[in-house]
Amino acid sequence: MANMKVNIAGVEWKNPVTTGSGTFGFGREYNEYFSLSELGAVCLKALSAVPRMGNPSPRIAETPKGILNSVGLQNPGAEAFLEKELPWLRQFDTKLIANLCGSTMDDYVAVAEILGDQVDMFELNISCPNVKEGGMAFGTNARMIEEITQKVKAVSKVPLIVKLSPNVTDITEMARAAEAGGADALSLINTLFGMKIDVKTRRPVLYNNMGGLSGPAVKPVAVRMVYQVRQAVKLPIIGMGGITTGEDAIEFMLAGANAVAVGTAGIVDPYAWIRVRNGIEAYLEENHIQDVNDIVGTVEMH
Ligand code: SIN
Repeated sequence: MANMKVNIAGVEWKNPVTTGSGTFGFGREYNEYFSLSELGAVCLKALSAVPRMGNPSPRIAETPKGILNSVGLQNPGAEAFLEKELPWLRQFDTKLIANLCGSTMDDYVAVAEILGDQVDMFELNISCPNVKEGGMAFGTNARMIEEITQKVKAVSKVPLIVKLSPNVTDITEMARAAEAGGADALSLINTLFGMKIDVKTRRPVLYNNMGGLSGPAVKPVAVRMVYQVRQAVKLPIIGMGGITTGEDAIEFMLAGANAVAVGTAGIVDPYAWIRVRNGIEAYLEENHIQDVNDIVGTVEMH
C-alpha cells in the first residue's frame, strides 16, 4: 500500500482528501453514508462570529456541468458551533478545518478568537462572491489580502489556510500577498462569479442575481491556477474545483496541489469523497508509486 499521509503546514492528514467548505455542512448528513474518519480532513461550512441567515431563495441553480450558488454564508455562528456541533465532530479521527467568514476584518479576527485552538486548522474565506461586504471584496485586492491575513494570523492558534478567489486577473499576485501576510497554506479555487437568466421571466434565476459557479465546468481553470500558484509560492496548496474522480484529483496534484478538496460532486453522489480517495490509491498502485507526495508538482510541461 502506498503512503497516503500528507503534511499540510505541520498538520498530518491520513490521506489528501478533504471537503470543500460550503458543500458539506457540519458533516452530519454525509456521516449517514460513510464515517468522517475516512477523510484526511473535514472542512466545515463557513462560520462567522455572529449567526447569519444567508441570502433569500432561490439560491442554487443548475448549469451545464456545474451549479451556481448564492447561499450567502448562512451559519449558526461560532459559539453555537462550539456548543452543538464540535462535541459531535470530535468523535471522528480526522482533522477539522473551520472556514472563517465575516463582513469586516475585525469580524474575521473575532471568529478566529472565539474558535481558538478547538479545531485543527483555519481556512480564511476571503473569496465568497455572494456577500456585499467581506468575502471576495477582500480576496480580489492584494493589499487587503496581505492585511487581513496578517491580522487573523496574529490571533490564530492553529495553522491558517487562505482560500483564494479565481475572480482576479493574476492569481499569483494574490497567492504572494497571502504568503507575505503569513499564511501557512493556500486553498484554491473558490467559485467563479456567474449568472443564469430565465428566458421566460427575463430575470436571473438566483434571487441574488449572481452567484458562484462550481463543479466540473470550472476544473480546467482551477488546475491552471493551481499550477501557476505552485510556481509562485512555496506554501502547501489544497486544490479544488470540479473534482469528481480520482483522476481529477491526480491532475490537481500533478499541477502542484499537496491535497485536494471535493465539494459539488458530493451533491450528486454522497460517496464522491470515498471514490476520489480510492481513485488516488488505485492510481498510485497502478503506477507503482510508493508515496502520494511524490507526484506533487511533477507535471511535465511541453
Ligand atoms: C456561500 O455560502 O455563499 C458559499 C460559500 C463561499 O462561496 O465561500
